[in-house]
Amino acid sequence: MRRDSTRAKMSQSLESSDRLRISVIGAGYLGTAHAVGMAQLGHDVIAMDIEKEKIARLSACELPFFEPGLGELLRKSVEAGRLRFTASYDDVAEADVHFVCVGTPQLPGSFNADLRWVETAFAELARRVAGPAIIVGKSTVPVGTARRMAEVVRHQTDGGRVEVAWNPEFLREGHAVQDTLQPDRLIFGVESRWAEQLLRAVYQPIIEEGCPLVVTDYATAELVKVSANAFLAMKISFINAVAQICEATGAAVLPLAEALGYDDRIGRRFLGPGLGFGGGCLPKDVRALYACATELGLDEVATFIRQIDAINLSRRDRALALGRELLGGTYAGRRVCVLGAAFKPNTDDVRDSPALAVATAAHREGARVTMHDPVAMNSARLVHPEIEYADTIVTAAREADLVMLLTDWTEFQDMDPALLSSVVRSRNVLDGRNALTPERWRAAGWTYRA
Ligand code: UGA
Repeated sequence: MRRDSTRAKMSQSLESSDRLRISVIGAGYLGTAHAVGMAQLGHDVIAMDIEKEKIARLSACELPFFEPGLGELLRKSVEAGRLRFTASYDDVAEADVHFVCVGTPQLPGSFNADLRWVETAFAELARRVAGPAIIVGKSTVPVGTARRMAEVVRHQTDGGRVEVAWNPEFLREGHAVQDTLQPDRLIFGVESRWAEQLLRAVYQPIIEEGCPLVVTDYATAELVKVSANAFLAMKISFINAVAQICEATGAAVLPLAEALGYDDRIGRRFLGPGLGFGGGCLPKDVRALYACATELGLDEVATFIRQIDAINLSRRDRALALGRELLGGTYAGRRVCVLGAAFKPNTDDVRDSPALAVATAAHREGARVTMHDPVAMNSARLVHPEIEYADTIVTAAREADLVMLLTDWTEFQDMDPALLSSVVRSRNVLDGRNALTPERWRAAGWTYRA
């Protein structure tokens, strides 16, 4: 990496295809995907995390989580000498662009996000980075955070130019590679043309491919991210609200969603009715936006956003109630097979998983719950050891009085009802994701509810 030539170019023109030295702070889900993506674009990347064990695994090209396609690109990047890992802030100080990708989980007992890791990352970098450099936030944060971090950086750095920028991330678990290398859009929240040019240089190959770019201020960039997630959550809660009306009136929600989706202004995606949204992002971002509206005194806005969360959570109770009905009124002493632990397919992430919430509630009501998930059983076992886990669908369903499909993995959608008929005690199925073909299950003698 040619530090001096890059620095020289940065001060003149940043319209260059030269590699930049990039650091990524936080090697969790977002940080690892971003670091690999940056290396794939041709930059020279160092990723840092305070968890030494995670760094050791990543250095050995081992992904600490499940993500299709990412492990292979990790190996390629490391072998090409484009990506290395460290547990020390001192090792990243020389980079030209620092991306802060640390987590901002929901604060326990509050709707606000916990910003301590973001604050620490900016403070640690500000003490070490001499500049010229930019420190770019990618973590999802409440509006106003970037401005505060810019103050921290201003107070702690002296000498070279060090600026803060905000560049929110929109990647979905299960699609991290595609979303990182071919994003739908790029958002740069910047305070100077210089920072914009530097970010343009980082993403040059993606911009050249025609990816839309919005250059804006800090507050807008921060809000774009939270609003995007809240909008997706609103679509899901909307269709789930309509699903309840359908249920009460005998209308069918799936053809209804299809019909709505043909209107380009609405679109079919994220109109999947069922158990609702979970994961480490949508629920906490909706709650953080609610907290923000409340703090701003925008009561109607807060009420509107609050309902997205309330409708979503009520789906879990509804699924539990339908299961109880199928069991004749009680979970006590009954065997329940739960298919799915992850909050959605193609991930092993069980944070705020609707499937786990329903499974544990059934367990608390006295059911003996056996769960199967293609990849998320280890993560689920760590948080809920009280549930039983089975390696296959068939072993999970053995002697079951009720089968609940709660995460829409393809292998569950494809399962053969006739095969399961021979192992269960009673043929009751609850399709929590509207993923099965009801006629097929009914024809095999099952009582089907969705
Ligand atoms: C979400 C956003 O989609 C990403 O754009 C964003 O970058 C990310 O959060 C983040 O903030 O980091 P992700 O959490 O991976 O990504 O999950 P989604 O694919 O959005 O799914 C969220 C939940 O909605 C899942 O539980 C899924 O089962 C549920 N869902 C989705 C439905 O219930 N119905 C649908 O029609 C679609």
